[in-house]
Amino acid sequence: RPHIVFVLADDFGYNDIGYHAREHCSQMYTPFLDSLAAKGVKLENYYVQPICSPTRGQLLTGRYQIHTGLAHGIIKAAQPYGLPLDNILLSQQLRKCGYKTNMVGKWHLGFFREEYLPWNRGFQNFFGFLNGGVNHYTRYHCEPKKTRRFCGYDMIDSRHGPINSTYGEYSTNLFVRKAKEMIDRHNKAKPMFLYLSLQAVHGPLQVPNQYLKRFKHIKDRNRKIYAGMVYAMDRGIRQLVKHLKRVRMWKDTIFIFSTDNGGQTTRGGNNWPLRGKKGTLWEGGIRAVGFVHGKPLQLNGPMVNHELLHVSDWYPTIMSATQCPLMVGTQNVDGYDQWDTIRKNKISKRTEILHNIDPLHKKLTIGSEYREGFDVSVRAAIRSGGWKLLTGYTGMNAWVVPPECKVTNITDGQVTDDFYTYPNSTTNIRLFKISEDPYERRELSQQYPEVVNLLLARLKEYNTSSLPVSYPRNDKKADPQLHGGFWLPWRGVGKKYKKKLQRKAHRHRNVNK
Ligand SMILES: *[C@@H]1O[C@H](CO)[C@@H](O)[C@H](O)[C@H]1NC(C)=O
Ligand SMILES: *[C@@H]1O[C@H](CO)[C@@H](O)[C@H](O)[C@H]1NC(C)=O
Ligand SMILES: *[C@@H]1O[C@H](CO)[C@@H](O)[C@H](O)[C@H]1NC(C)=O
Ligand SMILES: *[C@@H]1O[C@H](CO)[C@@H](O)[C@H](O)[C@H]1NC(C)=O
Repeated sequence: RPHIVFVLADDFGYNDIGYHAREHCSQMYTPFLDSLAAKGVKLENYYVQPICSPTRGQLLTGRYQIHTGLAHGIIKAAQPYGLPLDNILLSQQLRKCGYKTNMVGKWHLGFFREEYLPWNRGFQNFFGFLNGGVNHYTRYHCEPKKTRRFCGYDMIDSRHGPINSTYGEYSTNLFVRKAKEMIDRHNKAKPMFLYLSLQAVHGPLQVPNQYLKRFKHIKDRNRKIYAGMVYAMDRGIRQLVKHLKRVRMWKDTIFIFSTDNGGQTTRGGNNWPLRGKKGTLWEGGIRAVGFVHGKPLQLNGPMVNHELLHVSDWYPTIMSATQCPLMVGTQNVDGYDQWDTIRKNKISKRTEILHNIDPLHKKLTIGSEYREGFDVSVRAAIRSGGWKLLTGYTGMNAWVVPPECKVTNITDGQVTDDFYTYPNSTTNIRLFKISEDPYERRELSQQYPEVVNLLLARLKEYNTSSLPVSYPRNDKKADPQLHGGFWLPWRGVGKKYKKKLQRKAHRHRNVNK
């Protein structure tokens, strides 16, 4: 069976990879990623979810957020919940099938109880952090952000417990180093699944100076640092691949690269010419950078794939690529096996994507709420064939030109419709024909009421299958100060376990490793 190396970048925008950047006036520089993509399959009609936890949850379950109860927001540090345990994760599937399962980097699927930790969910080895984002050097993280009530360090090794010995090492370098260590410990006779979930290029905007030299010409400070972070990621992945070659695993490796959501334009990311940004259901939030590379694909040559793919498809697709049987008790997945779509350019098995239905998001009520049995004041979006329908608040809806771009046609960057400012919204239904209008410039709901109704009927149907949404209040007991200064599980953990973790934390606090 092939090795699977899945690299997930964080908040990496559509216009932030070299091969898109060159076409869209962006100065981001990723020569190594470009070269891998150019010799593999570029996924150019590939979608993810607009924020972190949801994309990660769908990747590891193959199921839409409405089917895991995670339809709203991300999992915040002090919230007592996580990706429900009744889901059998991809890591569990592959482990059952004989894979050694390694994970490095960002988890972000809940940790309030021990059972939710990655090493209790199919990953035999884990080194990384449990929350959505930490300082790239110190691993310090505060929550809730506004009040900074609970602060602590967030880095943990499944073999040793909480870790502070890597304090000061840049996250991308650290995670690549740890991935290499896991590869070195790997028994080459066994297939390996490595899920490298980088914090690059998520905020805070931090990068070692050496990666900045190349970007002196970028005036915008955020964008300049971000460019350095992108380049550091490119170098890190180059190192990782070199290492896989050195240990002779590369030729048997399927390498998958994906972002988790669109770029955060307020923190250096860019999705132009797509509309919107991270956190929105506009294309800029969900249309993703992704590619697949590797000998096991047996490609006849480089390919650019324009078939409709979604992050939930990886689960069945990887199961198919590895020829692993699904475990008994696996719940229905929403993803499709797209192995032949990727490898042989066969037509996608997918014609539709439920982008999301989020009943907890603030409602946008204009006139009557229900249409075709669906509450259109609720934030939701669906793609069906070439069409896309959005309801409720859409969030930031501008087209953001890369700050370093000098040759812009001004009209490209402007907001061209009336629903940018919410008080003036005259509608909470928006229809676009993405197949002809990928930048969402022509709103068509008035011209095609019958399409609107069809898509609303689909949303209504999805809604009937959705689970109640979890989004509990912050729990004071999560406070890291109660756990030796680290973010750690806080419920259902015995005193003994806590003591043990604290002892380990103490031991590893200042060891230089
Ligand atoms: C989804 O279904 C529930 C239960 O029938 C209903 O209360 C809710 O309003 C529906 N949501 C939308 C967005 O229509
Ligand atoms: C500027 O953008 C508009 C809208 O996208 C387009 O119609 C026009 O042709 C562009 N002009 C130039 C000079 O590129
Ligand atoms: C939108 O509403 C605000 C105040 O609510 C007003 O100042 C502004 O002019 C309006 N814009 C448009 C385009 O109607
Ligand atoms: C981690 O290490 C830093 C630097 O030595 C130190 O300031 C900090 O207090 C340590 N944190 C914990 C929880 O040990």
